Amino acid sequence: MSQTHVDVFAKARGHDREEQLRAAREADVLPYFRILDGPARPVVEMEGAERIMLGSNNYLGLTADERVVQGAHDALMRYGTGLTGSRLLNGTIPLHLDLEREIAEWMGADDALVFTTGHQANLGTLGTILGPGDTVIVDSGDHASILDGCLLSRAKLRPFRHNRLEKLEKSLVRAQTDGGGVLVVVDGVFSMEGDIAPLHEIADLCARYGARLMVDEAHGAGVLGRRGAGTAELLGVEGRVDLRVGTFSKSLAACGGFVAGDADVIDYLRVQSRAYLFTASGVPAAVGAALAALRVLRSDEGHDLLAAVLDNARYLRDGLEGLGFAVVQAQHLDSSAQLDAPGVLDGTIVTPIVPILVGDDWRAVLLWRALYDAGVFVNTALHPAVPPGGALLRTSVMATHDRATIDRALEAFAMVKRSFEADHGPLPGPGELHAPAARAAE
Ligand SMILES: Cc1ncc(COP(=O)(O)O)c(C=O)c1O
Repeated sequence: MSQTHVDVFAKARGHDREEQLRAAREADVLPYFRILDGPARPVVEMEGAERIMLGSNNYLGLTADERVVQGAHDALMRYGTGLTGSRLLNGTIPLHLDLEREIAEWMGADDALVFTTGHQANLGTLGTILGPGDTVIVDSGDHASILDGCLLSRAKLRPFRHNRLEKLEKSLVRAQTDGGGVLVVVDGVFSMEGDIAPLHEIADLCARYGARLMVDEAHGAGVLGRRGAGTAELLGVEGRVDLRVGTFSKSLAACGGFVAGDADVIDYLRVQSRAYLFTASGVPAAVGAALAALRVLRSDEGHDLLAAVLDNARYLRDGLEGLGFAVVQAQHLDSSAQLDAPGVLDGTIVTPIVPILVGDDWRAVLLWRALYDAGVFVNTALHPAVPPGGALLRTSVMATHDRATIDRALEAFAMVKRSFEADHGPLPGPGELHAPAARAAE
């Protein structure tokens, strides 16, 4: 009897995005894998031209800060280029321990564990603390690494629609009869939409149904709250969040990740987490840079850096709305939040992620290219990173952008919008990108 073999490589040919990808490459409008020719500064050298960088997560602008560069340099010179082993065996240097201690202090937690990337921090935490008998409830806007960690754990996955608290509650009710432990996991600041999770209400629901709460502070830590400890700090719920995960690849200007929480849980992860144990530890230069950046953030200068990035975000958001773009709205905070924290104005906050709704994927790509040609680099979020028909240009600012540079970017946006709309019809306008609160009430 003849047997037909399925080629596992078949999916690499003829996948549903292949045609679109080929057309985008041929027209040279692909917004991905563009090449940076220098450090991630407010204005960068990219593919032979200067572009205003509105697509970096270098929120505090510390990747080129001389103290942070020195931290990387000193670590490199003292410990070499790589550690060639796991933290468990030959991969721990004093800088890892200093960083873990200082992160725990910063987060107000018992202990912290440093991973080689933020992705591994989620994978190694969720894949270890959850097991097949447990239930994990996630927001549909959560980062891919959260989903990967959940899948790895083989816990029962119950997703709820972005920010829909009544759906979260339904999942919590259902989870009561699943039979295992229950963990709710949300991003503090959602990486595509730039909105903040309503952690106060989420913590209330977790307490009511006996669930644990984990918050991914990748875009919140080093950005929000008086200490810059993140969304949980800004919203006044630090004591009610069980685990906080973060990354060094954004405000902390390096590469790596962490989880902070109770001593027993962190110690359990230290000896059980496969994404921590079975990979080489972060290279000395990355650890030295993250430690130096954290020290800058926690120094007297930190407040001004946080205020600068958040004020820049509000300025860019207001400017884009003034030009008629559909941008994210400033988010209202309730009275339990730190209303005197950097960036809070009249009880509202704008995070450094300011998305612009375009809608159609192809139009978003063409608009991206027009901006690129006009000297502005932004990120493009297409389906499946966003819901179908919800393509975004995702802009993000740094503390080190000055107003003149943001004004130049706004002039480019104005010019590009005029010619784009003349050729391709109107773009969505102000109010069309629903405020998170409005969407939550839908
Ligand atoms: C919300 C969120 N979590 C986790 C990660 C992963 O972090 P890293 O880039 O350090 O792997 C990212 C970064 O892309 C993120 O945006």
